[in-house]
Amino acid sequence: MSDGSVNALGRVALPPGTRPWRVATANRLLMHRAAKPLLFTAALGPLAWLVWGAFADALGANPAEALIRATGDWTLRFLCLTLAITPLRQWTGWQALARLRRMLGLFTFFYGVLHFLCFAWLDMGLNLQDIVRDIPKRPFILVGTAALLLMLPLAATSFNGAIRWLGAKRWQALHRAVYMTAGLAVLHFFWMRAGKNDFAEVGIYAAIVTVLLGWRLVRRLHRGREVRGAAPAG
Ligand code: HEM
Repeated sequence: MSDGSVNALGRVALPPGTRPWRVATANRLLMHRAAKPLLFTAALGPLAWLVWGAFADALGANPAEALIRATGDWTLRFLCLTLAITPLRQWTGWQALARLRRMLGLFTFFYGVLHFLCFAWLDMGLNLQDIVRDIPKRPFILVGTAALLLMLPLAATSFNGAIRWLGAKRWQALHRAVYMTAGLAVLHFFWMRAGKNDFAEVGIYAAIVTVLLGWRLVRRLHRGREVRGAAPAG
């Protein structure tokens, strides 16, 4: 299976079929000092587009709904991009992609908070009592809230000091909560659209999340089998 992990000689084993010079070029570009600022600017694009749309009155007949939905869509898109980093890195051998993962994860949280703020402001008039009452009343809102709350400790421990403080194993275990967030986010979207019997878009996101999480599961099973196979008999 395509790997991209460290081999027995301590070198990064390239996935079969990849050309070393191409991988090296991609990694060099990703390591360029402009890569992070470029990603940062691009990730602010949807926000800039929405702010412009709001001021230019270009968000359609129901701007409040458009803002809530667009920020929800972008939260889910950034979540998928964040989850895609590891499979893409392993599949292509572009190890340097890993340095962009934290920024993508933080942008997922950022758009999630914006989505919640749009809901709290434009749907609920920033009335805390109404918000608290509405969350358990509508199951899809409850599920969305659980997804956002699960991201809170991940965002709070996304800096290097937190890895040292928690220890790599505990940090990794905590950050596996992102898989749960992804499941809840798709369920939130599904439940919201269930009322309208409109599942086309939800189906696409569900398929993407299934492939991205399924990749990890298959690799883990494969690696487990390899370790068991390599263990000395008796
Ligand atoms: C990880 C967290 C979340 C994700 C990924 C997410 C994602 C989404 C998506 C994809 C949509 C549908 C957009 C569309 O129709 O194109 C949506 C709609 C919506 N979400 Fe979220 N959401 C999250 C958290 C929340 C939270 C915390 C709340 C409120 C407490 C919330 C409230 C809503 C509302 C009110 C709608 C629109 C419903 C409508 O227009 O009928 N979401 N969300």
